Amino acid sequence: MNTQFHTSRFAAETTIWPLQKSQPLPEFAISVQPDFKGDLNETLLIYGTEGRKHLLLGLGEKTGLNGLLKAFRKAFYVNKAKFSPRVSVDLTGFDAPQTEAILLGIYGGGYNLKLYQTTQPETTLFYTDAGELHIQVADTELAAAQEAGRHANIIWDAQRAMLDLMNAPSNYKTPQTLADWAVASGRKHDYSVTILDHDELARQGYNALLSVGQGSENPPLLIICDYNPDPSRTDITTVGLVGKGVTFDTGGVSIKPSANMHLMKSDMGGAAAVLGTVEVAARLKLPLRVVGVVPATENVVDGMATKPGDVITSYLGKTIEIIDTDAEGRVILADGLGHMVRHIQPDILIDLATLTGNVIAALGYQAGGLFTANDNLAAQLLAAGTHTGERLWQLPIWDEYKDDISSDVADVKNYSGKPVNGAIAAAKFLEAFTENHPAWAHLDIAGMAFADTEFGQQKNATAFGIRLLTEFLLKI
Ligand code: BES
Ligand code: MN
Ligand code: ZN
Repeated sequence: MNTQFHTSRFAAETTIWPLQKSQPLPEFAISVQPDFKGDLNETLLIYGTEGRKHLLLGLGEKTGLNGLLKAFRKAFYVNKAKFSPRVSVDLTGFDAPQTEAILLGIYGGGYNLKLYQTTQPETTLFYTDAGELHIQVADTELAAAQEAGRHANIIWDAQRAMLDLMNAPSNYKTPQTLADWAVASGRKHDYSVTILDHDELARQGYNALLSVGQGSENPPLLIICDYNPDPSRTDITTVGLVGKGVTFDTGGVSIKPSANMHLMKSDMGGAAAVLGTVEVAARLKLPLRVVGVVPATENVVDGMATKPGDVITSYLGKTIEIIDTDAEGRVILADGLGHMVRHIQPDILIDLATLTGNVIAALGYQAGGLFTANDNLAAQLLAAGTHTGERLWQLPIWDEYKDDISSDVADVKNYSGKPVNGAIAAAKFLEAFTENHPAWAHLDIAGMAFADTEFGQQKNATAFGIRLLTEFLLKI
């Protein structure tokens, strides 16, 4: 669909009326629907004269960006079948971040999770190339709204691609699928993408990544995306992003129970955040170098798979005792972080991963866990999370927790064996592979990357992290 902005009144055949709590209703609605209160997510479709349709959409009071995004997304998703090909929304009075969030919600409302159903839901013309979205704003708001629109388009393209990758089952998605996506995106948007294949990884000693992948016939890969706005400059700030790309996590030999195992097709939520953000950074031409590194692999059961007790030598040379093959994310991230500190040496180093069930025990589905010893970086990431509504909450990584990863036989072990502070122990493990980077942060997004949405009954992808990281990068 095509988005256009207007500074004079534009009423399409379907008009959306965003209404704050207790805001006076539009004239025509007072007589037909005096009870509408404007509560968040309250909707009412009213049929007017000459086939016109009006959707009242309640936005509640002081609703944040994520609340606005979700209210529009749900209202559009639920009602889209009734929409005309042209839809208008009056966004006068909304600021640029709100307009961006609302547009992302409107675009998201067209998302289709039912990719593999043989009978597809009837396409709403509004969500095809023939569709038109008309946004009305004040004269003084026009430039900012158009810029918000440009950002929303770029972010939505990345989010939609990542939703599809996250929701894809493992027989439609292997490490190579992630690599192919990155290569195609890099070509299209002019950033460099390098793939280290199995043999190259073996030659260079990325044994931690290889060990997690060794049970699979879909070989592991290291994906390196490098957006550099000006390679001739050496003073440019470099942000390194590492994302866990496990395309399916059975747990390996330490196999998971079967009840929720199918959800583990989503164990590449960190990779999705990283790949999506690098694309956004390149398309927005941010004045920063952004390097994304994604160790991509399956974690499966096989006679050749890594066994509990095995000791492997990581890319940085540190040895790891594998206590539990289901704690595989931290093992592949050890080599992703290792690549960063050896080859990229970023000023800021952030990793994202669907790393532990324990972070969900701590924070549920409302915030990702943030781990860093850098207070400044913590403040910046927390602020970006609060602003976008992709929230983070800080958990400690005091050195007293170091015992959890000390091994009798190797430099570190991948699991403490204790049913407590699992997310913190995982963060301490990762820290051992950052070579004391002064600005490193770890985001455990296990509860946030795959969640309940209007798109389906089961948990499905959220593309969590792209808006958060984009906001973080814009504010540097
Ligand atoms: N991918 C899982 C973590 C996860 C759990 C993500 C639930 C999303 C939802 C990770 O690889 C894992 O299995 N972690 C184990 C670690 C344990 C064996 C130390 C866990 O959290 O149970
Ligand atoms: Mn696991
Ligand atoms: Zn995992």
